[in-house]
Amino acid sequence: MSQSYISHWKSPSNIALVKYWGKKENQIPANPSISFTLDNALTETSVEAKFQENQNGILIDFLFEGIKNNSFKTKIESFLSIVQNEYKWLNSYHLTINSSNTFPHSSGIASSASAFSALALCLVNLDEKINNTIYPNFYEKASYWARLGSGSACRSVYGGINLWGKTNSYPNSSDEFSIEISKDVHPIYTDFNDHILIIEKGKKSVSSTQGHALLKQHPFAEIRYQTAKENTEKLISILKTDNLDDFIQLVESEALMLHSLMMTSATPFILMKPNTLSVIEKIWEYRREKNVPILFTLDAGANVHLLSPKSQQMQVDNFVKTELIQYCQDNQYLHNSVGKGPEKQV
Ligand code: DP6
Repeated sequence: MSQSYISHWKSPSNIALVKYWGKKENQIPANPSISFTLDNALTETSVEAKFQENQNGILIDFLFEGIKNNSFKTKIESFLSIVQNEYKWLNSYHLTINSSNTFPHSSGIASSASAFSALALCLVNLDEKINNTIYPNFYEKASYWARLGSGSACRSVYGGINLWGKTNSYPNSSDEFSIEISKDVHPIYTDFNDHILIIEKGKKSVSSTQGHALLKQHPFAEIRYQTAKENTEKLISILKTDNLDDFIQLVESEALMLHSLMMTSATPFILMKPNTLSVIEKIWEYRREKNVPILFTLDAGANVHLLSPKSQQMQVDNFVKTELIQYCQDNQYLHNSVGKGPEKQV
């Protein structure tokens, strides 16, 4: 008997507004975080699972953009070794995984969120097929597994605005998976643009995983976790109104705090580049002079995410093309909006 099943998903990246930085065992976050799901930075993954009579353990072939990639393969194998604690079938099915990104993988855009969310969606879907069942909490399960691949990936299984991490200010919030909170948010925020300004392509000098670890001994760790908890609570209430001043203040402060933590850890590191600062200055100047509600955030890298309501799109596009593009490597930027979340492919 030869059984084979296939699952195929496209899943987006996300950008955090309140940052996840610091974690406990099993990828449990030290504080809650909130993000926008993006629409144009996607990973497309298909997983074909073929039953093999004498297989005894995880066995995968992994192709990234059609080419074997051993470093990604190793990461996926260690992720699957966690998932197989529950999905025992992984030990008797040979997986062929094909993955590709819609954004240039040299662009310095974090791809672990889209990659692990796409893979987790495929695995939960295969589990349904193999067990001939349908999970009413399909996305929650996918978010749970995605978290164990890469923390921020758990926020990518839903569209709109996501909350990951237990907070008293939101019912059903959890450290183990993310929930979508768009229905409790003023529509202005689900209609935001994110121009990702590529200041520097290529691999970061310090990975997010190393950065999280450095927080363990950080002198400001406890105050950071407390501040992030408070910022999550504040942002949940800010998001209910269209008061963009409070939104701007909080989101920019989160981005700068993230990078301050990097600079003040026992092994300090700086991921911002001179052009990161030039772009931030330009954004501040533009906001001051034109009174247009634009803001920036940063992830763990040099690139700048320029956030703006879609109502300002013409002006902001023009600002990017005339004033900011000169700071981008190879004049490169990626246009994203808040997106609708992953899509199953037929
Ligand atoms: C700065 O999710 O990439 O982007 O859980 O170790 O895979 P791991 O880390 P990762 O960390 C993301 C850090 C961040 C902030 C955020 O996305 O919340």
